[in-house]
Amino acid sequence: MNRLEKIANFAKNIHAQNNDGHGFDHITRVVALAEKILLTEPSADRELVLCACYLHDTYDEKLTDNVAGQKALVSNFLDEIFFDKTVKNKIFEIIDNISFSANLIERKTLDINGQIVQDADRLDAMGALGIIRTLEYGWAHGRELYKSTDKAVKNLTKETYHQNTGCTINHFYEKLFLLQDLLNTAEARKIGAKRDKIMHDFVKAIENESNYF
Ligand code: ADP
Ligand code: NI
Repeated sequence: MNRLEKIANFAKNIHAQNNDGHGFDHITRVVALAEKILLTEPSADRELVLCACYLHDTYDEKLTDNVAGQKALVSNFLDEIFFDKTVKNKIFEIIDNISFSANLIERKTLDINGQIVQDADRLDAMGALGIIRTLEYGWAHGRELYKSTDKAVKNLTKETYHQNTGCTINHFYEKLFLLQDLLNTAEARKIGAKRDKIMHDFVKAIENESNYF
């Protein structure tokens, strides 16, 4: 097994049990999207980008109650894989700075490698698959689907984002409709434009059908 295969296996074990839109299928799609973007960004470090893609949700607070403990586990694993700790630190730097919530406090500056991982993760939150993941998340967390008062949340902060007990459709307004303008690379913006339209059409359809009740 080469390094990337070992990393993929490690991530697969962590994501195997997830049923709220963060299963290993999310991870393999993020890797595939990053590969596509990498073709247009020759200055990027392919192995670093793909490692960060595989590991980007391994110690996320949505998947574990013990973020520090889980991160230590990932850290020990990476020490077995890379002799050089600078690679591990670069991977952690990307993972710790790409999330939507981390960027609600201040917009982080990312180099091209971080930008690609962030774009790939965001693209998988958009479009038809993004819709499915959002529904999965809503069901897994017992959220109401729709209220006619769903609308953009003003002045969203990390606290209000995570404490928001609104409905699933409101997640499109509070996050998913904002993503297209936040994409970093030209290739991601091209892929994202179609996905953005699919989400808007979907939410419009829900709102139209909901006029009957
Ligand atoms: P990030 O990791 O970039 O901070 P999140 O982890 O909050 O973003 O979201 C990842 C995905 O999980 C979203 O794109 C969405 O599909 C789903 N999700 C997260 N929060 C909610 C929510 N409140 N309602 C519905 N889906 C959600
Ligand atoms: Ni993710």
